[in-house]
Amino acid sequence: MTAFSFRVHATCGTARLGEISTPRGRIRTPAFMPVGTQATVKAMYPEQVRALGADIILGNTYHLMLRPGAERVAKLGGLHAFMDWPHPILTDSGGFQVMSLASLRKLDEGGVTFRSHLDGSEHRLTPERSIEIQSLLGADIQMQLDECLKLPAPREDIARAMELSLRWAERSKKAFEGQPEGRALFGIVQGGDQPDLRVESARALAAMDFHGLAVGGLAVGEPQDVMLAMIETVEPHLPAAKPRYLMGVGTPDDILEAASRGIDMFDCVMPTRAGRHATAFTRFGRINLRNARHAEDTRPLDPDSPSEPLRRWSRAYLHHLVRAEEMLAGMILTAVNIAYYQELMAGIRAAIAEGRLAAFRDEVKAGWAAGDL
Ligand code: GUN
Repeated sequence: MTAFSFRVHATCGTARLGEISTPRGRIRTPAFMPVGTQATVKAMYPEQVRALGADIILGNTYHLMLRPGAERVAKLGGLHAFMDWPHPILTDSGGFQVMSLASLRKLDEGGVTFRSHLDGSEHRLTPERSIEIQSLLGADIQMQLDECLKLPAPREDIARAMELSLRWAERSKKAFEGQPEGRALFGIVQGGDQPDLRVESARALAAMDFHGLAVGGLAVGEPQDVMLAMIETVEPHLPAAKPRYLMGVGTPDDILEAASRGIDMFDCVMPTRAGRHATAFTRFGRINLRNARHAEDTRPLDPDSPSEPLRRWSRAYLHHLVRAEEMLAGMILTAVNIAYYQELMAGIRAAIAEGRLAAFRDEVKAGWAAGDL
């Protein structure tokens, strides 16, 4: 059985080209992980997600513990078998989703008690139970339970949440002991928009020897320059030999900027959610297919894309599907967006290998700015 490992193949400034090895396969980094919250990347077959270039997808503790239940997934053979995705899966720990979706949340030192957004039933997540659920699901990369605040927030609240998250990191690490060889656990840096708290969090987590570290609590209401400044602040304190994951980010521009600053992994609902709402991400920027200007446009989204979904259908047809509220609109545009995100990641990786990431970034941004008309 392969152990979990990470190698940096090349660097370009602070950006890194690397590879994570897991028993279920390798993850080329910088990597984008499509979000498969409910054991499905919405509107896509698993083999399509794979064919478009994803090495790993993300699943959610919060949703799966409520429905169908972690014990049930385990009984059915684990998440990989259940959804027939044999490649790596990372699961988020649930804290972030409890805060954004559940009602009547009560947080204490031990964990968080909440009511399900599905049926109002009461549940409790502790660092130990979160790891137990992620283990029952069979996740290859598991995340510590943490507390993520929306910004802006008072400094005292940010400090309290960061310190609680450090204590939960210790407990998560202990709970993770004894899992099968090759599985990994990541700690999560918190500290909001306070540089000294971010550094304190990163240093403490680095000393705990996780398999990788995530930067959490960003893209939660702050401007992009604050997010990028926080990444620059923590980066020197993140172990260079381990993968770094920026949680819940982001737009193609956020990803390009954060990868340039040393981030190796990303996830976001943006490409899948936007695809179900008529928006395509392309080399030419965002295109809203609902717009009447596409009604008789015979051009595909991008005739030169390496990915079939961007070449195959006319904009007029996509516009028609969107207006007619056909399911195929969401299916095609989700595939288009996952294809574009993966194409962007492949471009970033190639540019790092060639030592020309800054030039690549300028070219890509010029393409978005020029638009397509
Ligand atoms: N997803 C996006 N941001 C966060 C975060 O700060 N913590 C966790 N657990 N998940 C996230």
